[in-house]
Amino acid sequence: MVFVTRKSHFNAAHRLNNPNKDEQWNNDIYGKCNYPNWHGHNYTLEVTVAGEPDPETGFVIDLSRLKKIVKKKILNPCDHRNLNTDVPFLEGIIPTSENLVKAFFKQLKDDVEAASPKGSVLYSVKLFETERNIAEYCPYKTI
Ligand code: NI
Repeated sequence: MVFVTRKSHFNAAHRLNNPNKDEQWNNDIYGKCNYPNWHGHNYTLEVTVAGEPDPETGFVIDLSRLKKIVKKKILNPCDHRNLNTDVPFLEGIIPTSENLVKAFFKQLKDDVEAASPKGSVLYSVKLFETERNIAEYCPYKTI
């Protein structure tokens, strides 16, 4: 099994807030991330496809096609946006990195697999909110 990753960057604003809880709860849980007037991150996104190299092309996926899909499905809707208010596919979710990687995976899966040689799969989506805070969604990994 060969793993191929496309790395990209985007900037976005968000606020962590659970509207079903009161202000005290939100302050206790989210602290500064709950400030009402938003804050921003320089996100790094890693999208990994797994499969066997195609015998004719040698590719698990054509990285220029993967780049276009990530741009269309994630970067265009999210870059320089407010993740709480501006992105239709994130509506109703609290934009933690954990929730974002799951939403991004769902958003990418069909297009990535349609562009992959037979048998290649979208393997994981990893999001660096900062250099030190990272979330990854991979439905193939178990603990
Ligand atoms: Ni934040």
